[in-house]
This record gives sequence, C-alpha cells and structure tokens, in this order.
Amino acid sequence: MSSVPSGLFRLVYYSRSQVAPGAFEPTIDSIIRKSIANNRTDGISGMLFCHDGWFLQALEGSHKAISATLARIEADHRHEAVLLLGAAQASGRLFREWDMCARTLSMVDAKVAEAIARRGAFDPGRLSLETATRLLTRLRAVRDDAQLRYVA
Ligand SMILES: Cc1cc2nc3c(=O)[nH]c(=O)nc-3n(C[C@H](O)[C@H](O)[C@H](O)COP(=O)(O)O)c2cc1C
Repeated sequence: MSSVPSGLFRLVYYSRSQVAPGAFEPTIDSIIRKSIANNRTDGISGMLFCHDGWFLQALEGSHKAISATLARIEADHRHEAVLLLGAAQASGRLFREWDMCARTLSMVDAKVAEAIARRGAFDPGRLSLETATRLLTRLRAVRDDAQLRYVA
C-alpha cells in the first residue's frame, strides 16, 4: 500500500446494523472481502468493529479516497444512520489494510465485547473521536495477540 504521510486523514463513524442476526457471519464476511480489496486499491487502512447491532469503523487514507469510500458506505443498505464521530488529519497510520478483517472476527470481538459490557451498554454515540480511536486500536492489539490475520 502506498502510504501518504502528508495529507493523511483518519475518520471514525458509527452506524446501526440492518443485517438479520441469522445472516450476520456471511454478510460481514462479504463486506470484509469487498472492503479489503477496495481499500487496498485506494490506499486505505482501517478497522471495523461490530458489536450489539452497531458498526464502528475507522478509515485512514487520503481525503479524496476516504470521501469516495464513505459515500459508498453511506449508501449501503446493510446499515443505517451513519454518523461521523469525527475526522482529522493524522501524522501516521494506526491500522493496516488487513486490520479490517479477521476470519474468526467474532471470537476475538467477543473478548473485547466482554470488557465493554463490564462497563455498561455499548453506545458509540457517546464516544469521542479519541476514545473511539483508542477502542479500535486496542481491538487491533487483541487481534495481534491472538495472531489473527485475514488471508485475502
Ligand atoms: C459497515 C460497513 C463497512 C464497510 N466498509 C467498507 C470499506 O472500508 N471499504 C469499502 O470499499 N467498502 C466498504 N463497505 C462496502 C460498501 O458499502 C460498498 O458495498 C462497496 O464499497 C461497493 O464496492 P464496489 O462499488 O466496488 O462494488 C462497507 C459496508 C458496510 C455496511
């Protein structure tokens, strides 16, 4: 992936899932496959967290690439009420192209979900950009510990 040290932006949004619980695994799998392919081409790195009917996603890349990707994401009927937590220029990337994705995503997410549940209900609307980014980087670290990688 070509890195863009100057002109690098990070954006975090959350949304409400419209995926039927029974169709969750295959739908997430297909979102992830498409995302990793597109994001690789567009020089975008990021992280997608799914929990309790919410999506929380960070996207990093050039302003142009992120705007185009966000426009496609917003038009996707597999979720609704896409709301930005914020966007800011970033001095470096926190995520990698394959952080989006781990085949056994839900197992590892369950570990993080447990930690979140101990602190009360998960409500991304109450997170600041900084807290949401920290949560996503911690989730990345958990995945690294578990040595999970998506093999595209
Ligand atoms: C929660 C969620 C996250 C998504 N994340 C990305 C993403 O990071 N990159 C991407 O290209 N598409 C993402 N998508 C898929 C887009 O909405 C859209 O289906 C896809 O970009 C269309 O790609 P195509 O025009 O190449 O077929 C996401 C969809 C959902 C529901």
